Amino acid sequence: MPAAQAMSGTRQMRPGTDTKKVALVTGAGSGIGRATALQLAAEGMRVVAADIDGPAAADTARQIEEAGGEALAVRTDVAQDADCEALVARTLAHFGRLDVAFNNAGIAGYPLLTVEHSPAQWQRVIDINLTGVFNCLRHEIPALKRSGGGAIVNTASIMGLQGAVGGSAYCAAKHGVIGLTKSAALECGRDGIRVNAVCPGFIDTPMTLGAESIFPARMLQAGVQRAALRRLAEAREVAEMVAWLCSPRASYVTGSSFTVDGGVTAG
Ligand code: NAI
Repeated sequence: MPAAQAMSGTRQMRPGTDTKKVALVTGAGSGIGRATALQLAAEGMRVVAADIDGPAAADTARQIEEAGGEALAVRTDVAQDADCEALVARTLAHFGRLDVAFNNAGIAGYPLLTVEHSPAQWQRVIDINLTGVFNCLRHEIPALKRSGGGAIVNTASIMGLQGAVGGSAYCAAKHGVIGLTKSAALECGRDGIRVNAVCPGFIDTPMTLGAESIFPARMLQAGVQRAALRRLAEAREVAEMVAWLCSPRASYVTGSSFTVDGGVTAG
C-alpha cells in the first residue's frame, strides 16, 4: 500500500479530492523539526515547513521537494498569534486542508537560577515555548475540524516531567505544554482530533550541540551517562515517534506524553 494511503483512514475521503494529508511543522528549519518534516514527507504527506528563520524553513522545503515531495515554507514567529493565524491561512490557501500539526518550535532558555531570571527572560521562554504552542493550537484545531479530524503533537521535554536547577522557565513552559496537550485532547476527541506530546531527552541538534548551546560539555556528558543507552539521540529518532503518533497506527492514543530519552527518566 502506498504511504499516502497508509496514512489515511481517520475519515472518509470524497471521490476526486486530493487525499494526500497535509502536515504543518513549526521549528522545521533545524533539528527535530526538520527531521520530522522530512519523515512526514517521506511517509507521503504534503508538508508546511514553518520557522522564524525563513531561509532555514525554505531549505527544509527544498530538501523535501528534491526527494520528490511537496512542501511550502512559511516564515513564522510562533510567539506572535497573528503569525500563527497567517500560517494556518497560508496552509489552507496553498494545500486546501490541514490534517497533522507538529508544534515543535522552541528555544533552550537561559542557564539561570530562578532568582537570576529577569522578567523579560522568563517571558521570552514562556512566549515561545508555551504560548507559541497555544497560538498554533488556537488556529490549527478549527482547520483540523474542517478536514474531518487529524493528529497534533506538541514538543515538550523530559524537562516537562522533571525540574532542573537553572532551568525554571524552560521547565515551567514544558510542564505547561503537557497540561495544554491533555486539555486540548479532552476538548477535541469528539472531533476526531488526537493531541499528544513528545518528551525528548538529550538530542543531537544545534540547540544541544551548536555554537549557541546553553549546555556545558560536562552537563551533556552527565546527560549521556544518565541515559540507559549511553548516547545522545539523533533527531530522526524523535521524528519516528512523532510520525507514529500522527499515523492511524496510534488511533487510540491521545492526551499522553511520550519520552524519547534513551532511559534518562527511567531511573
Ligand atoms: P533547534 O534549535 O535545532 O531547532 C529549533 C527551531 O525552532 C529552529 O529552527 C529555530 O529557528 C526555531 N524557532 C525558534 N524560535 C522560534 C519561534 N519563535 N518561532 C518559530 N520558530 C522558532 O532545536 P531542537 O533541538 O530541534 O528543538 C526542537 C524542540 O525540541 C524545542 O521545542 C526544544 O525545546 C525541544 N527539545 C529539544 C531537546 C534537545 O535535546 N535538543 C530536548 C528536549 C526538548
